[in-house]
Amino acid sequence: MKLLVTGGAGFIGSNYIHYILAEDPEAQVVNFDALTYAGNLENLAGIDKDPRYTFIKGDITKPNAVAAALEAHQVDAVVHFAAESHVDRSLHVGTRTFILTNVLGTQNLLDACRAHKVARFVHVSTDEVYGSLGPEGRFTEASPIQPNNPYAATKAASDFMVRAACHSHGLDAVITRCSNNFGPYQFPEKLIPLMIANALEDKPLPVYGDGCQVRDWIYVEDHCRGVDAVLRKGKTGEIYNIGGSHDVPNLDVVRRILAILQKPESLIKYVKDRPGHDRRYAIDASKIERELGWQPRLDFDTALRKTVAWYLEHRTWWERIRSGEYRKYYAAMYGNR
Ligand code: NAD
Ligand code: TYD
Repeated sequence: MKLLVTGGAGFIGSNYIHYILAEDPEAQVVNFDALTYAGNLENLAGIDKDPRYTFIKGDITKPNAVAAALEAHQVDAVVHFAAESHVDRSLHVGTRTFILTNVLGTQNLLDACRAHKVARFVHVSTDEVYGSLGPEGRFTEASPIQPNNPYAATKAASDFMVRAACHSHGLDAVITRCSNNFGPYQFPEKLIPLMIANALEDKPLPVYGDGCQVRDWIYVEDHCRGVDAVLRKGKTGEIYNIGGSHDVPNLDVVRRILAILQKPESLIKYVKDRPGHDRRYAIDASKIERELGWQPRLDFDTALRKTVAWYLEHRTWWERIRSGEYRKYYAAMYGNR
């Protein structure tokens, strides 16, 4: 199977490429990534030597670039991870790139897949499209779409464009909606890697508001296995929730990281809350479990220990990001976007 993976230099996309090339000897991957601030080819160190792997520096907001990639490579499926993915940036930096990449970029891919008769399109989306829960209940695939921040709104819009391409034009598309991922290669602006890195540097750990917002956490490799199950066995036009069955307040996660690293809780610093901060996410993943036989393999504590160990062992990786060094390498190799 030959795949075009968008956003393969990012956190989940790079983990997916590692996973698929290790698991499936027949797999070939074309990684199509614009190398934004979140794209880091160091996430794929070693993979670039694999003859089954090709990298294209390309931007999904550019229809010609997408068409050229699909012309050059006859792929069986597109697995679409590329996105602007950070809620805080969508709130504080600006929404324009979110709309361009998440909405227009997804539409460009859908159009190109139709034109090039790509057999399957897997759209990787998020539980954030469902908005926030009260104290009870879980998101199912039938929950209303009620995004509350600009990131979530653009992901919801892209989900609808995928649905429309499937319904109106018969494109074979499937959507996954996953909860909060963590694991190797996660950009240290997201909660877990930020807290690990700050704790290791004895810097304050910024907890938004009261820290009682609840998220469901899943180890990234479990998400990758879920995406792969949907790619291979998912039914056209269907949506599959993916979750780790571990929904806890942010403060619990932060305290657990400090405990693993044997750092004091006095490092926790309560800071101004995120505007419109969603209070609780919890996901019902029984459909993918029942229909596709998928289940998360790693429990939260084991996965968190593994993740902390990875950040300890790969200190240079995240230090180069925090210092900005990693961008200098790309600027020299590929130019800036
Ligand atoms: P990320 O920000 O780490 O990586 C995004 C990647 O997309 C980067 O490599 C970046 O260079 C690339 N990209 C951005 N704009 C592009 C463009 N215009 N053209 C081509 N490439 C572009 O994101 P992530 O955390 O790996 O998330 C991947 C996907 O999974 C996203 O669609 C996100 O919405 C979804 N998701 C993420 C989580 C999570 O917890 N991180 C949870 C559920 C769903
Ligand atoms: P984040 O990793 O940004 O993921 P998302 O917003 O997509 O869920 O944040 C996870 C949770 O952690 C969210 O409730 C916001 C909170 N948070 C903090 O309290 N402090 C921080 O510095 C960050 C980045 C997040």
